Amino acid sequence: MHTPLIAGNWKMNKAIEEAVNLVREMRPGLNEVPGVDKVLCPPFTALAAVKELLEPTTIKLGAQNMYWEEKGAYTGEISPLMLKDLCQYVILGHSEQRQYFGETDDRVNKKIKAALAHSLIPIVCVGENLAQNEAGQTEAVVGGQVRGCLAGLSAEQVRGLIIAYEPLWAIGTGRPATGVGANAVIGQTIRGTIGDLYDKATAQTVRVQYGGSVNPKNVAEFMSQVEIDGALVGGASLKAADFVEIVRISAQVKEASS
Ligand code: PGA
Repeated sequence: MHTPLIAGNWKMNKAIEEAVNLVREMRPGLNEVPGVDKVLCPPFTALAAVKELLEPTTIKLGAQNMYWEEKGAYTGEISPLMLKDLCQYVILGHSEQRQYFGETDDRVNKKIKAALAHSLIPIVCVGENLAQNEAGQTEAVVGGQVRGCLAGLSAEQVRGLIIAYEPLWAIGTGRPATGVGANAVIGQTIRGTIGDLYDKATAQTVRVQYGGSVNPKNVAEFMSQVEIDGALVGGASLKAADFVEIVRISAQVKEASS
């Protein structure tokens, strides 16, 4: 039985003042929910301000991306050294990075290794697009992403990761996967691939989230699935009441099923 992890991916939203206001709004409600790891992932520019607001709370902080080098002539990039004093988590391989900015499994693999070397916990995103889904390629695509992203990692390193299954056709569309469908991909393909690469214990230990149009109305459907350990929430994490409700319901559902 894993502690569920609910992360809010704010994407490219919220300037510093807006971020501060949003955190102030959701902080009391989030802080009081026990039994769930709660993570906010604002844009880089708001990390320092949000960090201060979260210091006296149980809420953790994550970044949305990272480069693998520690420092140097990489204009525009942010390194693990810069993040490790600010946050505990980092989202890597998000589908929007893959789609618009040329992110690849090989690059994600380098980023995961760099994050782990600096004690940042990677939230590694995988997921198939609509055409791949309709062509019955989900297992091949997602399994391939898992293999590519985890290449060269030890079982111990993999156990410390978070994987987020985010089918592209469900992200920002208001058309989520079904709980049963996401559970099957996570259990068979994601944990199945990790079981093949490592062992059953490692496959069971790694926490796997679902992401894609999660909201307060559907989160229970996902959290009641045995293979799903949490959610990566985009749009609904920008609304304080909705995000607090998602975290609250997640805690209740996992408590009831434990
Ligand atoms: P969504 O985004 O909840 O708005 O669908 C999820 C994500 O991209 O992480």
